[in-house]
Amino acid sequence: MKKVLVATEKPFSQIAIDEIKIVLDGAGFQLELLEKYTDKSQLLSAVADVDAMIVRSDKVTTEVLDAAKNLKIVVRAGAGYDNLDLDACTQREVVAMNTPGQNSNAVAELVFGMMIYGMRKQFSGGVGSELRGKSIGIHAYGNVGYYVGKIAHGFDMKVYGYDPYVSADRMQAHGVEPLASVEELYRTCEFISLHIPANDFTKKSINKAILSMMPQGAVLVNTARKEVIDEDGMIELMDERPDFMYLSDITPDKAEEFQKRFPGRYFFTPKKMGAQTEEANVNAGVAAARQIVSYLTSGDETFRVNR
Ligand code: 3PG
Repeated sequence: MKKVLVATEKPFSQIAIDEIKIVLDGAGFQLELLEKYTDKSQLLSAVADVDAMIVRSDKVTTEVLDAAKNLKIVVRAGAGYDNLDLDACTQREVVAMNTPGQNSNAVAELVFGMMIYGMRKQFSGGVGSELRGKSIGIHAYGNVGYYVGKIAHGFDMKVYGYDPYVSADRMQAHGVEPLASVEELYRTCEFISLHIPANDFTKKSINKAILSMMPQGAVLVNTARKEVIDEDGMIELMDERPDFMYLSDITPDKAEEFQKRFPGRYFFTPKKMGAQTEEANVNAGVAAARQIVSYLTSGDETFRVNR
């Protein structure tokens, strides 16, 4: 019987686990669970005899892959797969996949939750401001960007997008005005919502130079990855620009600096929680289980990311 390990340091909801189990039972596969693990050694022993793995932001390194002698496929239940060592997967003939789009709405809703919290003086009762009529720039127009645009229209915001990999026609069809360069996006928009992946090209790319182009009252919302921010540059900018606010679903490495220097102008969730809804857990978890069944029973490689 094939064994499928769900290894999640940040667990799925129970209902998502129940639904994953139904999919795996249907294929005659066995579900193994490793949740809330606190030490790498627990992961290394849990992977020892499994054929497949479902993870979230859990790191799948060479060490993990070497401990997983029977592993044929690992699925990141989510969008960003910077936690998977793709080259190491390829070398060991392990297929790596993600589940694009499955948790996107949850992340997009959190963008607006944080924006309202920031704009309403962190619910202190102080006089805040509204989103209506303001400009929002969607930096990278993938699945999350699409939902951010949809919700922004509901708030009557002016919606702009920049994504060199997405056609202007697609954005226009969704009522999003495509801008030709990243500089133009940052120059135009009071709010920027970041949706770029973390990779060698994007790490630290959101730096002082680009952020300083934003107009008065600028707000950067980061539900992507902390690695894309040049934190030293952002701290310098926030020192010079008392109007600038940073809202992030990922606690930055230099969180203490922000806390000391910019009270009222930053907000960080304690733990990345954009995708932490029942719906997103079910959608992404079940998609991952189905992709595993489909690959192991018929070789279907849709959503493979390590070709
Ligand atoms: C993703 O890339 O899908 C999101 O960042 C969610 O990550 P999580 O599964 O660790 O919450």
